[in-house]
Amino acid sequence: EGWFTYDPGFVSTAACESKITFIDGANGVLLHRGYPIEQLANNADYLEVCYLLLHGELPTAEENERFRRTVNNHTMIHDQMSHFFNGFRRDAHPMAIMVGVVGALSAFYHDTMDLTDVHEREVAAHRLIAKMPTIAAMCYKYSIGQPFMYPRNDLGYAENFLYMMFGVPCEEYKVNPVLAKAMDKIFILHADHEQNASTSTVRLAGSTGANPFAVIAAGIAALWGPAHGGANEAVLNMLNEIGDESNVEHCVERAKDKDDPFRLMGFGHRVYKNFDPRARVMRDTAHEVLQELGLENDPLLRIAQRLEQIALEDEYFIERKLYPNVDFYSGIILKAIGIPTSMFTVIFALSRTIGWFSHWNEMVSGNYRIGRPRQLYSGYTKRDYPSE
Ligand code: CMC
Repeated sequence: EGWFTYDPGFVSTAACESKITFIDGANGVLLHRGYPIEQLANNADYLEVCYLLLHGELPTAEENERFRRTVNNHTMIHDQMSHFFNGFRRDAHPMAIMVGVVGALSAFYHDTMDLTDVHEREVAAHRLIAKMPTIAAMCYKYSIGQPFMYPRNDLGYAENFLYMMFGVPCEEYKVNPVLAKAMDKIFILHADHEQNASTSTVRLAGSTGANPFAVIAAGIAALWGPAHGGANEAVLNMLNEIGDESNVEHCVERAKDKDDPFRLMGFGHRVYKNFDPRARVMRDTAHEVLQELGLENDPLLRIAQRLEQIALEDEYFIERKLYPNVDFYSGIILKAIGIPTSMFTVIFALSRTIGWFSHWNEMVSGNYRIGRPRQLYSGYTKRDYPSE
C-alpha cells in the first residue's frame, strides 16, 4: 500500500511545485516571481502585481494599459446578485456573506468555464480581480443599510474601492490619495503567500476540477479563522479589550502563561522566524496614515506601540522568535481609514484572491492529481456490532 509520512499541519511536506512565490522564513525574504515584496510595495501598484502573479512577468506599458481596461470591463456584478445580499440578516458577518456571494458567482459563470482553455481561465481571473472590490464594498454597505454604490472605472483600483465603501449617492466623495495609496499597499502585501492554509485549500478544492469561483469561495472560508486571515480583526479586538496602556503588561504575562489559552494576536508566524518583511512596509505605512489623519496619539495605537515594545524585549518572545506580523499593522491602518473590524478579513480575501487564482491557474495548466492526504488511524480496531 506504499509508504507515507505522518506530518500533522503539513509543516514539512511540499505538496506541489510552484514558480509564483518564494519565502525564506529564517531571513525574512518574500519574493513574487523573483521580485522582493518591499520593491513591489514601494514601486508597483496592485494591478501590476496581479498581472505579475498571474502571468509571471511585469506588464509592459501596453500590457498594463490593456490589462486595466479589461479588468474595468468586469467591475460590475450581475444585478441579480443583490438578491443574495438581501437574503442575509443585516448583522451577518461580512465574511459569511463573502463566502456565499463569491461561491454564487460559479452559478453565473459555470457553463462558459472550460478549465483547459487558457483564455477562459484568464477571463475568470479578470472577473474575480474586478468584482472582488465591488462585492466587498457591497458587504459593508449592506451591513449599514446604505445603498450599494456602482464601481467607477475612472478611479484607480484602491480609490474605487474606498469610493464604493464610503461614497453615498447624495453627495460628492473625494478619496484621500494618501489613504488610497495605503489601501493599495495593503492589497499588494496580502496578494500572495505561497502554500498557506487558504491557498492549500484552493489547490486541494481545485484539484477535483471544481469551478474556480467555488474554489475561491473555499479559500475565503479557510482564510476566515483567527489563526489565519482573521488575525487582523483579532488584533483590533484584542487592543480594544486591553483598553488602556496600563493593562499591556498584564496582557503580555497572560500570553506567556501556558495554562491560559490567550495569545498575542498579530504576533508570530508559521514561516517567518526572524521578521515578516511585509510587517516592515506596513509599519511605515501605518505611520504615514496616522500622520495624515492626525491620529498619532490615538489611544489604541499607543496600546499597540507599547505592546510591540514590551513583547520585542521579552525573553519569551525573543526565544520563540515571535515578532509582529503583517496583520498587527494592517489592522491599525484599516481602523484609521474608518473601516470596521468585521471588514478586515474581507479586505484580506479581496487582496489574496489573485494569489489563490494564480496558484489554481498554475496547477490546472500543468500536470496535477487530485489531492488526497492520508492519515494515521488511531481509532478502534475491527469490532462487531452488538447482537442484542
Ligand atoms: N502569543 C503567545 N505565544 C505564542 C504566540 C502568540 N501570538 N504564537 C506562538 N506562541 C508560542 C506558542 O505557545 C509556542 O510556545 P511553546 O513552544 O512554549 O509551546 C511557540 O510560540 C510556537 O508556537 P506554535 O503555535 O507552535 O507556532 P505555529 O507556527 O504553529 O503558529 C501562528 C503560528 C501564526 C498560528 C501563531 O504564532 C499564532 O497563533 N499567532 C497569533 C495569530 C496571528 O497573528 N496569526 C496571523 C498569522 S500571519 C497572517 C496569516 O498567515 O494569515
